[in-house]
Amino acid sequence: MTKGLGNAVHLAHMFISEVVKRGGTAVDATAGNGNDTLFLARLVEAEGRIYAFDIQKKALIKTRELLERYGAAKQVTLINSGHEEMESLISGNVDAVIFNLGYLPGGDHSLVTKPDTSVVSLESAIRLLRLGGRVALVIYTGHPGGSEERDAVEQFIYGLDRANYNVIKINILNRAKHAPMVIIVEKAGALNESQAAAQNP
Ligand SMILES: C[S@@+](CC[C@H](N)C(=O)[O-])C[C@H]1O[C@@H](n2cnc3c(N)ncnc32)[C@H](O)[C@@H]1O
Repeated sequence: MTKGLGNAVHLAHMFISEVVKRGGTAVDATAGNGNDTLFLARLVEAEGRIYAFDIQKKALIKTRELLERYGAAKQVTLINSGHEEMESLISGNVDAVIFNLGYLPGGDHSLVTKPDTSVVSLESAIRLLRLGGRVALVIYTGHPGGSEERDAVEQFIYGLDRANYNVIKINILNRAKHAPMVIIVEKAGALNESQAAAQNP
């Protein structure tokens, strides 16, 4: 993976690596070929726990192979289920959740993330986050349904109150119209209150 600012996945990883540390807990909501799962597994190391979801067995097999190749399978629980089930399958808080929406590269394009379930699981992800934790979404609009999914996610995110959440959106400006974009949601809560107090003593 190229690591410059022109790579949406790299941008998402930059914001996630600030909040996921050794021994931590995080979720890959869309395991796919396993690249985000491996990234998270390396951050938490053997002491941590990563939960990786995908509706396709094929994706989880690829993810397991990648993790094993890099000696990072021990700290990962692979879950063959929709990410909309994450709240019923994970107990306790998590440091971060990554969503890499769309379809499995090289796979069946009809098995794609959908606006309704993506929003339901985004709500769950935000509830699971610890204070200071972050959700990263990489969103693609070049495929059928992609723009609708982006709109649904953005509509939900615009409703998050600013006292408790910080949200940023990154567009790579000098790229094709359908270049992927990144959204980061940070659960701020008391962090925002103490920052406001420091700015207005
Ligand atoms: C763009 S790919 C993910 C890429 C992946 N993160 C990687 O690093 O290779 C999107 C994945 O989401 C999966 N997916 C679609 N709907 C899902 C759902 N409701 N819950 C979990 N995974 C889903 C697809 O099967 C596909 O593998």
